[in-house]
Amino acid sequence: MSILRVENLTKTYTSGGRELTVLHDVNFSLEPGDTFAIVGPSGSGKTTLLGLCAGLDRASSGSVFLNEIRLDTLSEDQRAAIRNQYVGFIFQNFQLLPTLTALENVMVPLELRGERGAQKTAQALLERVGLGQRGHHYPTQLSGGEQQRVSLARAFANRPKLLFADEPTGNLDTDTSATVVDLLFELNREAGTTLVLVTHDLELAARTQRMIRIRGGAVVEDTQLILNDRMTE
Ligand SMILES: Nc1ncnc2c1ncn2[C@@H]1O[C@H](COP(=O)(O)OP(=O)(O)OP(=O)(O)O)[C@@H](O)[C@H]1O
Ligand SMILES: [Mg+2]
Repeated sequence: MSILRVENLTKTYTSGGRELTVLHDVNFSLEPGDTFAIVGPSGSGKTTLLGLCAGLDRASSGSVFLNEIRLDTLSEDQRAAIRNQYVGFIFQNFQLLPTLTALENVMVPLELRGERGAQKTAQALLERVGLGQRGHHYPTQLSGGEQQRVSLARAFANRPKLLFADEPTGNLDTDTSATVVDLLFELNREAGTTLVLVTHDLELAARTQRMIRIRGGAVVEDTQLILNDRMTE
């Protein structure tokens, strides 16, 4: 059974009367616990692909199956429910809610699920990303890297089956970046979370089991990596 399957995925935007195809006939399939990296130049369609896989957006043609549920036949509300149940997402631009504190941002997915002890869980997650003392701060009072870590804590909150991370280390220094990457792989090992990473960092990509390279919206390379995080332990 696949946790994520993408079939003939194509995305075309129309703006100013012109059509722009940003993803062209993308195919892949991941099993639970897989680690997967997507690399490619700026503008090649990586964020678009991640958004389609997570059900944040709809494809122009082709299908996404998340835990064998076909997303393109669902309504926006149904997709939101699936996301809340299965998906964690670390956005390239964080997308924290500006009117909520760091702690409250991490609590959102827990509260949406009606979980008890949301505050305690959220606090523990903030501590794990090194921000235990900053829970009461609003996003504008945090640096880019700190916001990225809050976004990470929020993505972990539901112990998702699938974690999408769009340039998760893009705004972090070497040390913080290593902590964050270790956390991502720890979650993969401990909870069997499938990791889908977009990154410019080839060293990070090399820690995953499989890497695809996209260019101009098409997959130009698909590599099974022999030396991955699991095998080097
Ligand atoms: N809503 C939109 N309307 C029109 N074009 C769009 C829209 N969203 C994205 N694009 C275009 O789609 C292409 C792919 O964008 P995307 O954000 O997926 O790239 P990316 O690979 O994530 O780039 P980066 O590495 O810079 O983050 C770009 O040319 C972008 O301008
Ligand atoms: Mg992007």
